[in-house]
Amino acid sequence: MKFFADTADTAAIAELAETGLLDGVTTNPSLIKKSGRDIMEVTKEICGLTDGPVSAEVVALDHAEMMKEAEVLRKIADNVCIKVPLTIDGLKSCKALTSDGTMVNVTLCFSASQALLAAKAGATFISPFVGRHDDNGFDGMQLIEDIRLIYDNYAFETEILVASVRHGMHVLEAAKIGADVMTAPPGVIKALFKHVLTDKGIEAFLADWKDTGQEIG
Ligand code: E4P
Repeated sequence: MKFFADTADTAAIAELAETGLLDGVTTNPSLIKKSGRDIMEVTKEICGLTDGPVSAEVVALDHAEMMKEAEVLRKIADNVCIKVPLTIDGLKSCKALTSDGTMVNVTLCFSASQALLAAKAGATFISPFVGRHDDNGFDGMQLIEDIRLIYDNYAFETEILVASVRHGMHVLEAAKIGADVMTAPPGVIKALFKHVLTDKGIEAFLADWKDTGQEIG
C-alpha cells in the first residue's frame, strides 16, 4: 500500500520523506490556504521532496478552464498529478489529460458508481473520502470495498486512493480491503509508528542493558 501525505506543509513532508516510507503527496485548495503560500511555489517545493505523484487541484468548474489550469499546473514538475473534481467536466478533463499521458487524481468521490465513471475516464487515481462519508452517516469503508470489487471485476487499472483519512483504523481497514494508496495528514501517519507496548519494551530493555554495563562496538 502506498502512503501519501495529505498536506502542503513542506517541513512535515520533508520529515516523512526522510523515513523512506513516503510515496507521494496530495494537496487541495484548503490545504494550500492552510500553508499560507503561493500554489505554484509550494507545489514546486513539494515536488522536489518526493519522486512520487504530487496532486495539485484545479479550481475551474468547466472543462475548457480546467484544461487551461491543468496546463499551468503540470508544467511545475514531471511528478505533478492533476486533481479534478468528480463532475462531468472533471471527467471530460480526466479523459483528455490521461489520454495525453498526464496523471489525474479524481477527487470528491462519494459513491461506487462515481468511481466506476472515473475508471472509465482513465483516472490514474480515484479519491473516495472515507472520513467525510462517515461524518455524514455513511460507511466509508463499505465504499472502498465496493470500489475494490468493481475495479477487480473489470481489471480497471485506476488506483484506489483512500482520502479524508482521520485515524489509524481507516488505514488498517483500507489495507485489509486492498486499497492501493491512502493519503493522510502527517499526524495520522506518524501515529501509526506508535504503540505503548513498544515504548514500554524499549524502556525495559534499556534498563536491563544498563545493568549489564556493556557497550556495542
Ligand atoms: C485528499 O486528496 C483530500 O483532499 C483530503 O483527504 C480531504 O480530507 P478532509 O476530509 O480531512 O478535508
